[in-house]
Amino acid sequence: MNTVQADEYIRQNRVDDREKPVFHVTPPVGWMNDPNGFSVYGGKVHLFFQFYPYDTKWGPMHWGHVTSGDMLHWEYEPVALAPDREFDEAGCFSGSAMEADGRHVIVYTGVRREADENGNERDVQNQCLAVGDGSFYEKKGLIISGEELPQGFSRTDFRDPKVWEEDGVYYLAAGNCGENGDGQVVLFSSGDLKKWEYRGVLAGGDGTFHETWECPDFFALDGQHVLICSPQNLKAQKYEFHNGHNNVYFLGRYDRENHTFEKGKPHSLDFGFDFYAAQTTALPDGRRVLIAWMQSWHTNLLPEGQKWHGMMTVPRELTIRGDRIFQNPVREIERYRGKEVCYQDVEITDTKSLPGVSGRVLDMTVEITGDHFGEFTIDVANNEAYTTTYTYCKKKGLLLTDRTYSGLRTDVVCQRTMAVKEAGGKLKLRFLMDKYSIEVFVNDGEKVSTTVIYTPQEADRIVFGCDGTAKINVVKYEIISTASK
Ligand code: FRU
Repeated sequence: MNTVQADEYIRQNRVDDREKPVFHVTPPVGWMNDPNGFSVYGGKVHLFFQFYPYDTKWGPMHWGHVTSGDMLHWEYEPVALAPDREFDEAGCFSGSAMEADGRHVIVYTGVRREADENGNERDVQNQCLAVGDGSFYEKKGLIISGEELPQGFSRTDFRDPKVWEEDGVYYLAAGNCGENGDGQVVLFSSGDLKKWEYRGVLAGGDGTFHETWECPDFFALDGQHVLICSPQNLKAQKYEFHNGHNNVYFLGRYDRENHTFEKGKPHSLDFGFDFYAAQTTALPDGRRVLIAWMQSWHTNLLPEGQKWHGMMTVPRELTIRGDRIFQNPVREIERYRGKEVCYQDVEITDTKSLPGVSGRVLDMTVEITGDHFGEFTIDVANNEAYTTTYTYCKKKGLLLTDRTYSGLRTDVVCQRTMAVKEAGGKLKLRFLMDKYSIEVFVNDGEKVSTTVIYTPQEADRIVFGCDGTAKINVVKYEIISTASK
């Protein structure tokens, strides 16, 4: 397998854009998981992704590549990496990218298979370097071997390096598993990106979450430091960290001299079903933007006959307010807003649809007010057969997401709950829909629920419902094709 073969296969099998979402990144054909190498280089935003072109299932990992001027209209670039060298023959796993000395540098995990002392085959994961011009990348080989980790740290789970530069020193944080199986993030530093020195455990290894912390990201934001990671196999606690692989963040204080991170409590990054392996980049204008794989390892749904599998979330601007991260779609989305439909103070006493408020590719904000109701529902992607329901339970202060009737044929998780609070007497919900996905931003990004739905596009009604009396304001824009801008 090499990149030439992959590009040729894509040329012959590329899925028609009309079968895809409008503004979310998808693979040209085949399977996609984690975002990789999210970075700015040569005046463009680059996004790479875990990619297996030859099937809609996970396979030996390549790095697919797209670029964009605005993070909504993306162009496919040649496949950047394929598992074609002895040090990455079992896969080019996740990693990151940055500009260094005018070149675009990729740091990724090269996976090999090796027999352990008992003769059992196992994965061995090492960190590798590739350098390129924004289109083509040349592998430079292994830069950090797992042998450099302290005794007892996992050699099989040592992956997903995130690199950054601070005052002329390069740093690299990677996901790992400590001696007792606790997830952790290990830190290295380097003067030239080639020779690296182990600096210690940046966070974890303390029983916070068992099993590997995949895909770490570490950055300063609004006067604090943020560690994002994706621990495997969590146990749900109340409405957070629902079972399975999950994306969390910690805010805290970074002691750069001693390379330690004094972290606060963990928080969920998303309260829907499909969100993992988030990665961020800083834009030249100072914004910190996050993108994640809009799918889950445990329930990856694929409609029969679909030749592509996996989407990214919309890129989201991050800010910290109080002790929480707020996420909002990048403001560039406003350029793609089509017709506006607006309603003020509409009374909902039973169920009601509003003329012009429907569709599957849209940006819609609903504000719910009133004291005389128990539950308020918003059904989207709705027709006689299908619906996805968001229920606001006012008294309990909860928002429920239910995709039982979103076309699923396997018995997967269909309901999630998040705690919500009204602000200024109203609950504000912004829905971003793009054919097969719904991202709901609560109260200007305080919480988000991300969900994929593979239902027929004809299911496009939006229905409001109330068991008492509520009033709503609605502003809805269709999103027009990003190709036209
Ligand atoms: C996370 C992950 C990473 C790994 C990649 C392999 O989703 O398991 O830890 O690098 O996917 O595709």
